[in-house]
Amino acid sequence: MLQYGHTHMNCFIIAALSADGYIAKNPTAPSTVWTSKEDKKRFVELTKKAGVVVMGQNTWNTLGGKALKDRLNIVYSPTPLPATERLEVTEKSPADLLKDLESRGHKEVAICGGSQIYTMFMKSGLVTKLFLTIEPVIFGSGIRLFKEDMDFKLKLVESIKTENGTLLQEYDVLATISDNQ
Ligand SMILES: NC(=O)c1ccc[n+]([C@@H]2O[C@H](COP(=O)([O-])OP(=O)(O)OC[C@H]3O[C@@H](n4cnc5c(N)ncnc54)[C@H](OP(=O)(O)O)[C@@H]3O)[C@@H](O)[C@H]2O)c1
Repeated sequence: MLQYGHTHMNCFIIAALSADGYIAKNPTAPSTVWTSKEDKKRFVELTKKAGVVVMGQNTWNTLGGKALKDRLNIVYSPTPLPATERLEVTEKSPADLLKDLESRGHKEVAICGGSQIYTMFMKSGLVTKLFLTIEPVIFGSGIRLFKEDMDFKLKLVESIKTENGTLLQEYDVLATISDNQ
């Protein structure tokens, strides 16, 4: 586990990608229509184990404004959302959010997108792992996993090919490229 500052949390990104690197065709498109059952199963297992899911408001809206069950749902939004059980709205920096969650006894956090939230957390240097699913589809255009320039070195820990050609990949974040220069 990487340890930045005073945080000792496991913070992982979990995302499904088209074979050409997109997470969605547009900000309102739900991703569940083109992802495999194996991806959905891994998502449920890993996020329930973590206990906390973090997402942006656009992604929250694609879920129909319903919190994922058995998990604390944290949504980044500039505006208040209708209060429901298991939902917290935040505007905190990634470092402050992780410190807050750690002080409340959490040890693991799943960063569930979309692109704005993946980018903000990856750039913070606090992400320790990426669980990426590559689905056998092509979008041609759309929303990429990240939307800004960045340089990270990864280690492929596991790559599983399913019967229908989905790739379930797990990466450790080793360092930023600049750490090695
Ligand atoms: N394939 C996958 O695995 C996967 C996973 C998740 C989502 N998705 C897809 O990704 C798309 C959505 O991605 P997106 O990048 O458009 O949106 P997003 O990251 O889900 O959410 C963006 C929202 O978060 C707010 N936000 C961002 N940073 C904030 C901060 N520091 N404080 C307060 N609010 C903040 C933004 O506020 P402002 O309006 O002020 O900017 C904006 O309203 C959807 O199509 C969804 O289906 C795919």
